[in-house]
Amino acid sequence: MCGIVGYVGRGSSRAFVMSGLEHLEYRGYDSAGFACIESASGKLLFAKAVGSLHSLVRKLDGSSIDGSVGVGHTRWATHGAATELNAHPHFSADKTISVVHNGIIENYGVLKQRLIQQGYSFSSETDTEVIAHLFDEVMQRMSGLEQVVQAVVEQLQGAFACVVLLERYPDYLVAIRRRSPLCIGLSSGQQFVASDAAAFAEHTRDVLFMPDSSYALVERAGVRLFSFAGLPLDYVPMRVDAQWLRSTKEGFEHFMLKEIYEQKRVLQETVAFCSTLSQDAWKQTGFSAEVVHDLRELFFVACGTSAHAAQIAAFFFEQIDQIRVSVELASEFRHRALFGFDHSVFVFLSQSGETADTLESLRAVHEAGLRTFSLVNVPQSTMARESDGHLLTQAKREVSVASTKSFTSQVALLYWLAFRIAYEKGLVPQDALAECQQDLLVLAEVFEEVMERYDSFIAHDWAPRYAAYEKFIFLGRQISYPLAREAALKLKEIAYCFVDCYQAGELKHGPIALVEPRVPVFLFSVLDEGVYRKLIGSAQEVKAREGRLVIFAFEGQDELIALADDVFIIPHVKPLLGPLAMTGIMQLCTYHIARVLGHSIDKPRNLAKSVTVE
Ligand code: M6R
Repeated sequence: MCGIVGYVGRGSSRAFVMSGLEHLEYRGYDSAGFACIESASGKLLFAKAVGSLHSLVRKLDGSSIDGSVGVGHTRWATHGAATELNAHPHFSADKTISVVHNGIIENYGVLKQRLIQQGYSFSSETDTEVIAHLFDEVMQRMSGLEQVVQAVVEQLQGAFACVVLLERYPDYLVAIRRRSPLCIGLSSGQQFVASDAAAFAEHTRDVLFMPDSSYALVERAGVRLFSFAGLPLDYVPMRVDAQWLRSTKEGFEHFMLKEIYEQKRVLQETVAFCSTLSQDAWKQTGFSAEVVHDLRELFFVACGTSAHAAQIAAFFFEQIDQIRVSVELASEFRHRALFGFDHSVFVFLSQSGETADTLESLRAVHEAGLRTFSLVNVPQSTMARESDGHLLTQAKREVSVASTKSFTSQVALLYWLAFRIAYEKGLVPQDALAECQQDLLVLAEVFEEVMERYDSFIAHDWAPRYAAYEKFIFLGRQISYPLAREAALKLKEIAYCFVDCYQAGELKHGPIALVEPRVPVFLFSVLDEGVYRKLIGSAQEVKAREGRLVIFAFEGQDELIALADDVFIIPHVKPLLGPLAMTGIMQLCTYHIARVLGHSIDKPRNLAKSVTVE
């Protein structure tokens, strides 16, 4: 969360920074700011604005604020409301030091009190401002940029990525990273710093991903990297694939719609990817024969949509591999005691590979001496780099804050992984792997076919009717329950509706009191005959109380279909893939409700794509 872009070179830092920030707006969009060292005067100049980046662009229009060293920021508020005073950059009292920051300074309260006692006054409610005053305080008594940075970082606790501009050192950007992503784009005669390499992709693809607890002194001519202990660090830049760095809407009205429609291709590419995983490549994942034979329990650790993907996949591993599975929300898992996991494997699931809750859980498991395995979508992400083994989901860059194709790619890859492990355990023959790939290819066809069948109906008839409701109940049972949860999350995120989601069997234990004509009930069916029959019972309970029923059913489920006020009927796929076959139209339903309501679909209020604070 929060986007940071810095530039040092010969050109106009403002042009580079503002264009970089456009690509990072997904990380936060409640306010923005820019600061630079003016080349002629050596003075620090700045501008800030509340709202999207566009407000800052308007403010800078006609102003001469620019210089060859500059930094910018888009904010996702943690400490203090979205006001101009709280927008970054933050400054020392004499405005000669400026800081942009992503993350949380956990001990900022203590530091702030101490600085106030020393005579410093604060103009914002942010934790960031303490960094600017700390630099000032240290620079009063120390010289030498390396010593100053070290003396500051050793006082800071928490997770943070920051870039500092100092009038006293006008040729430098100081980049500091601890447990929050920050990378440096290396080029000849100019360097870039950003929270995501997408910010500088059109200028360089040679990227130094800063190691944890490190800082860099970035000059036009090059970069010097140090550990927090002050030791110089060697580095080898990584060449990042261009397709990771930029994405366009390709004619779609929103990234979310484009990404929904990319899912057939994502499923096909997942199968193609699995086919290329030779025995050698498989070994690198860390699921060696010994690990697999010894495996009693899988722990999935994830947040949000990724956790829902894991909850669906839990059924794969239990049914195909006979392995017990627990799905843990990373933010809660952080507080669990880690013991007695000798026969367990921990799998961390994340689109971004940067989610702080998941990443910190991974580190805790690693520190406990246990093996870590991750499924991530971004190959250059911190989780991919820090896990003992990893597999890459095949969604490619996802821009919309509401995850769609990354969910599908996770569930599909986990379906294959369940078969691959079953094969390794000797539970299924080699043919089963080819069959599972074929199941996914059939699913890909069904996925798009149902979207094409219903898209126009949803957009022009269904969504305008359902956008009029404010509250919803979503029901699923067994493998369709996590899908119902995912649908509820989508509707909350982009349409801002209240949705309560239950296991259908729980309805009669209380929530049924909420059923009435003004609260539509969405019910997601399954391809398991026994569970299906129980869902008919739940649907009847809703109808008996004059509830309005929207049913996502499979072909031939006539008894259930007959109870629906509105119904989406999906062709049969392999039973375990049933939730994925419904995913596309479920996403279209939520997308079109949000569209009818006129919401900002790709950048919903209060959210950010990559949640890099705990
Ligand atoms: O990048 P991750 O998969 O780790 O992100 C986890 C959640 O923050 C994410 O899925 C979030 O819930 C999405 N906005 C859902 O659409």
